[in-house]
Amino acid sequence: MPYTVGLQAAAIALLSAGIPTIFTTGIILFFFILSILSSVQKDGPDAPASLPGHSIFAIIPFFRRRYDFLNWGFQATGQSAFQFSLLRNTVVVVSGESARRTFFSAKSLDLTEGFKILSGAIPMVRGVTSDLQTKRVSLIHKRLASAQRHEHLSTLLPVLLADCRRMMESWGTSGVLDPFERVYELVFQTTVRALSCSEISDDPALVARLKNLYDKLDTGTTPATVLVPWLPTPAMLQKLWATRDVYDIVTAAIDAREKSGIVRNDTLQMLLNGKDEKLVVVGFIMGLLIAGARATGTTACWIATFLGGHPDWRIKAKAEVELLLESASLSVGEDKSAISARLATIPLEAWEGQTPVLDSIIRETLRVAQPHTAMRRNLGPEMYIDGRLIPQDAYVVYPFSDVHLDPEIYPDPWRFDPGRPVESDVKSNYNYVGWGGGKTVCLGQRLGKIELKLITAMFLLGFEHHVVDGSGKPADPLPTPNWNDILFCRPPPGSFGLKYERTKATL
Ligand code: HEM
Repeated sequence: MPYTVGLQAAAIALLSAGIPTIFTTGIILFFFILSILSSVQKDGPDAPASLPGHSIFAIIPFFRRRYDFLNWGFQATGQSAFQFSLLRNTVVVVSGESARRTFFSAKSLDLTEGFKILSGAIPMVRGVTSDLQTKRVSLIHKRLASAQRHEHLSTLLPVLLADCRRMMESWGTSGVLDPFERVYELVFQTTVRALSCSEISDDPALVARLKNLYDKLDTGTTPATVLVPWLPTPAMLQKLWATRDVYDIVTAAIDAREKSGIVRNDTLQMLLNGKDEKLVVVGFIMGLLIAGARATGTTACWIATFLGGHPDWRIKAKAEVELLLESASLSVGEDKSAISARLATIPLEAWEGQTPVLDSIIRETLRVAQPHTAMRRNLGPEMYIDGRLIPQDAYVVYPFSDVHLDPEIYPDPWRFDPGRPVESDVKSNYNYVGWGGGKTVCLGQRLGKIELKLITAMFLLGFEHHVVDGSGKPADPLPTPNWNDILFCRPPPGSFGLKYERTKATL
């Protein structure tokens, strides 16, 4: 049993004591410990300015309204870097070009360690995702590279398009959809398909269950579950059960494949063929699913929304896909086959090398609607960022808003404009970090991009759409990304929708 039996037993014992008792005890304990620990921070002369007041409540918005909190921190301290305490940990928030350069290139700043404590959304299964040693993590990354090799990715294209077809057919011929529900669901399906196996991805009910569990893991990420993950709050217990359920689904699928003896052409097969230990296979699927589905999902939702509000870019993107189809078409004259089948004839090279419009749309969407805050831990020794001391073991965070919403670099930064000139010195200045930069670039970029292109192409050819407000009228103003929502950048639910109608083409 790789996940912690001890923790489970404790959870069961606590559950039998009754949720209200646990909750009250937990909360009292939590704030008691926090108030003691957050009052002991001492600042040296090189230390970044500390947030005014040591109230633990001040840092709760780091989890709840991160964008506002970080902006407030810079304003309140009047500095380009500031620090605050998370229990015994120092967290330094940095900004500006010089800090950005050090942040992305410093060898001692570690992403996995930073992410572990500050995010808390990854399912932590002891021995599977929580104790993944560096060796296993690099093996997972190696396997991810194999899963994105030309040949493997090419065989995925028709299957991903078939998923798009099935799910888009369920939308009916017209209506209003919430992209953060329907489009996200679709991306979850294609990501499960790309990263796991047919045993899961061919079963819509199982995929829906898995999505639900991952949603629980995200909504279960509260300040308490991150700061004191051992504290048995209801959120922590819910996370624990959800994690176990995800683990069970994944291992059941692996067992079913192994027992069946049937060899399939999917990512699980590739992993099993690699003869890695089971922890690596389970860790690959559980960990990468969350990394892949969230980021790709948010981006796909926003692409659909932006294109629904910018008909000029919608037309350009659709024309680009039609051109690709024309060049790939083997038949002469009008081709009446389904769009998914026709799009499957476009070779991977063309999707990757002949779509400048889609590329610029993806790029701009990531700039304006990816509310990422990069997190690292300084594994040591102590270091300086922009003249400010970062002690060993401290956490450092860099909000992408600092660069992507900087009006000096991107004039009128909230405006969606894929026609913006591309900065030529991106590599040295990290003026664009949509896929990361320096030491940490996205390792799933190839897959993420192809998923986005296929979904967008299917949507543009299969539907006409535009953005409407909550009452169904054409939206004015258009929805703006909400950077305080660290998962989706989502505006208030119900405030807008995408009104769509099927085109004459068969999906
Ligand atoms: C639109 C889709 C995606 C976007 C915008 C995106 C963006 C990013 C960014 C910005 C980083 C760097 C984070 C940082 O510096 O803090 C990153 C890292 C990473 N991404 Fe993605 N990502 C996407 C899709 C995916 C997918 C589909 C996968 C896996 C299948 C994936 C796997 C990873 C991994 C493993 C890392 C960590 C790299 C490391 O440890 O050095 N991503 N991604």
